[in-house]
Amino acid sequence: MAAAMIGGAFLSATVQTLLDKLASPEFVDYIKKTKLNEPLLMKLRTTLQYLQGVMDDAEEKQINNRIVKQWLDDLKDAVFDAEDLLNQISYDSLRCKMENTQVGKKANPVWKWNIFSSPFKNLNGEINSQMKIMCERLQNFAQHKDILGLQTKSARVSHRPHSSSVGNESVMVGRKNEKETIMNMLLSQKDTTSNNIGVVAILGMGGLGKTTLAQLLYNDEKVQQHFDMKAWACVSEDFDTMRVTKSLLESITSKTWESTNLDFLRVELKKISREKRFLFVLDDMWNDNYNDWEDLVSPFIDGKPGSRVIVTTRQQKVAEVAHTFPIQKLEPLSNEECWSLLSKHALGSDEFRHSKNTTLEEIGRKIAKKCGGLPIAAKTLGGLLRSK
Ligand SMILES: Nc1ncnc2c1ncn2[C@@H]1O[C@H](COP(=O)(O)OP(=O)(O)OP(=O)(O)O)[C@@H](O)[C@H]1O
Ligand SMILES: [Mg+2]
Repeated sequence: MAAAMIGGAFLSATVQTLLDKLASPEFVDYIKKTKLNEPLLMKLRTTLQYLQGVMDDAEEKQINNRIVKQWLDDLKDAVFDAEDLLNQISYDSLRCKMENTQVGKKANPVWKWNIFSSPFKNLNGEINSQMKIMCERLQNFAQHKDILGLQTKSARVSHRPHSSSVGNESVMVGRKNEKETIMNMLLSQKDTTSNNIGVVAILGMGGLGKTTLAQLLYNDEKVQQHFDMKAWACVSEDFDTMRVTKSLLESITSKTWESTNLDFLRVELKKISREKRFLFVLDDMWNDNYNDWEDLVSPFIDGKPGSRVIVTTRQQKVAEVAHTFPIQKLEPLSNEECWSLLSKHALGSDEFRHSKNTTLEEIGRKIAKKCGGLPIAAKTLGGLLRSK
């Protein structure tokens, strides 16, 4: 059963990594500019999302149902093949970018795509046909879900818990450079806009550690001393100016605000933040509407010079609308960091990482590599191993 659970979590983590990759701006950009079949990739994405929806149910049912177990095992193979295919596309994208950079470095600094020339032309045809086969293979699994009686667990994303400013630093891995870079932005005396607020946008795919990094900064000793006032608000997908304004007020004053009068709340926030050097965190922003953003921040533009806002987001456009400092794009953790995180959660320390048991270490490292640099995957798998 333990193996089945780990396998299941593994599969979910891999599918999530694939979905994030398919939605990433670099990937979408590459597909658009090449002759790769975009509708086919969209179909692949939809099919993976659909399969992800029934995976929880399949994981539960496989324990008593051999056919479901076989379905899940076969699906695992197909998902790993899909992973190889997408890695191949990412590799080609990188190679294409590098070759073009080297060829046209001086003559034309604008990145041009050389995909119509050989060998990319043939390669794209090959990838398109592999993608078609992959899509049909995965759709086949989706078609069988009714026969197996698997059910979708819908609206998984919208039930994500709201974040808070409290984190657990004892299991923190890496992110030292990122922390230092952002810390310099927070503590610098330079103001980047005509008003007094400097905005740092932390950008990255789901589960990469944006909130965790923001918590680390928010609770740092130097930050505590530098700012007169701090507040944390989780914005989330259903953007609501009233809720965010209220959250900021509640975070500052440590009391509940009952009013539903937005104007009153905004005036109060304006009064409280005026002439104060503040740090506000707006965690998990999805709304990229410029007017909504301006509206949200307008009550606190009279803060003291040096006031800062940290925005965390998965969306490039949100970061572009909000940022005044250079956008901080988080990269995946290294395999070594994933391995450290996985072992910390599996054993409560990373002693396991340095153990003499080479077989265990070899397996652990393989699992860590499959996490694709996503801390959430390393943590989840470590947690599952711990309980077994
Ligand atoms: N550097 C890290 N070291 C240890 N654990 C981490 C690290 N980064 C993230 N985590 C863990 O991974 C999980 C996901 O991280 P987090 O919530 O910060 O991701 P996120 O990028 O904010 O995701 P989302 O876009 O879904 O909000 C958390 O449980 C966190 O504890
Ligand atoms: Mg987050």
